[in-house]
Amino acid sequence: MLYIGIDLGTSAVKLLLMAADGRIERVVSKEYPLYFPHPGWSEQKPQDWWDAVVEGLRELAADCDKTQVAGVSFGGQMHGLVILDEKEEVIRPAILWNDGRTTKETDYLNETIGKEKLSKYTANIAFAGFTAPKILWVKEKEPENFARIRKIMLPKDYIAYKLCGTFCTDVSDASGMLLFDVEHKCWSKEMMEICGVTQEQLAKIYESAQTVGTLKPEVAAQTGLPETVKVIAGAGDNAAAAVGTGTVGDGRCNISLGTSGTIFISSDKFGVDKNNALHAFAHADGHYHLMGCMLSAASCNKWWMEDIIGTTDYGKEQEAIGKLGENNIYFLPYLMGERSPLNDPYARGVFIGLSMDSTRADMTQAALEGVAFAIRDSFEVARSLGIRIERSKICGGGAKSPLWRKIIANVLNIKIDRIESEEGPGYGGAMLAAVGCGEFASVEEAAKKLVKIIDTVEPEPELAAKYEEKYRKFAKIYPAVKGLFREL
Ligand code: XUL
Repeated sequence: MLYIGIDLGTSAVKLLLMAADGRIERVVSKEYPLYFPHPGWSEQKPQDWWDAVVEGLRELAADCDKTQVAGVSFGGQMHGLVILDEKEEVIRPAILWNDGRTTKETDYLNETIGKEKLSKYTANIAFAGFTAPKILWVKEKEPENFARIRKIMLPKDYIAYKLCGTFCTDVSDASGMLLFDVEHKCWSKEMMEICGVTQEQLAKIYESAQTVGTLKPEVAAQTGLPETVKVIAGAGDNAAAAVGTGTVGDGRCNISLGTSGTIFISSDKFGVDKNNALHAFAHADGHYHLMGCMLSAASCNKWWMEDIIGTTDYGKEQEAIGKLGENNIYFLPYLMGERSPLNDPYARGVFIGLSMDSTRADMTQAALEGVAFAIRDSFEVARSLGIRIERSKICGGGAKSPLWRKIIANVLNIKIDRIESEEGPGYGGAMLAAVGCGEFASVEEAAKKLVKIIDTVEPEPELAAKYEEKYRKFAKIYPAVKGLFREL
């Protein structure tokens, strides 16, 4: 049989067709616009996602035996607020995970309601990108829109709804709403009250590999797929990527270098970060995970390459980089503010340490290193909780660069394993579809059978020591300039 994984990302949707033995038969990517209507705001139109998914499905399955397609599932950008009215119409553009408009609402939740209560209700505190503060923002700033809300959805759940008509979400994605009691896997009554929403406005909750429906006849006609294709709940993109890289079970780690950068640590048991810097979410394998999320990772490199120095030849720019560990320029990668562990929507990007002999290559290197240091910040929080990480998988667009993998291995001083498929969330989505259709008994079994490591970067003691010293310096920069960001 064949399984489809839909990675509903921020710059594009990637659709992947996987055979039962894990072979990737085809990948199709469709871009859509991202809107920044104000500095720090970030929106997309759900209709653009849907049009891209329909077109992508048609193209993906064009040459295959369509009767063999058994299931479809997702890895979706998390936290986005999609609201529908009684006519099932989208009320306003979706407010995305990297949107920083909710500083007031986030402060209200963390300070007036209080972090302790939030953590008790949901296992997490408020971050500007989470869904609940966005609901409060709409309530305050767009009361006419708030009054029309009948359904509150996450991005991939909007696609599932359009595909099969079931108003559903899964435990991993629901975890990022700050409306979900992560430990008990149900909606939090207290949080619904705080946000002024009712259970009817929230979706039915599923485990990630559960079936939620089958394709609607009109969708089958539009895409050319049979009506028998099952729709499986799927997961937030990080949990899906963790499945796709085999980061399931206890104590495994995955680093994702996509638009965002995440460090994801799977766990058999529910646990909360006492510092509230890492997110405590449910995992797509039926258990839990801790995660640190930086808002701009590969997107910093893309911004530097394409928008600033004006090239798309990333490889050539990276070839010009000199010796690692010798650079005196540092870069704070906070182009969209920062989530973990700083929780500071006002933070911004900074280059520091420039001199007359600084080169373009030094600055390119600083951008790559700055992202690695910021990942190390979340890694340090995990360490402070007594979590020992000796190796990690890596995925996402940034993981394609051998140089960046080497920098990460040495900045974190751990082994970095690259796996056969770099398509983290899409591959994980297809795996969840396969589990949901009964091809594998569990997510863990699918991971064991399908995920293969193809190479490992080992840290080099001398370079890791140099980076250790550099990280100590990097760690002093943000506290030194933090006060300026609000003024700027
Ligand atoms: C995770 C997060 C991002 C998005 C990216 O908390 O906000 O990784 O899911 O799509």
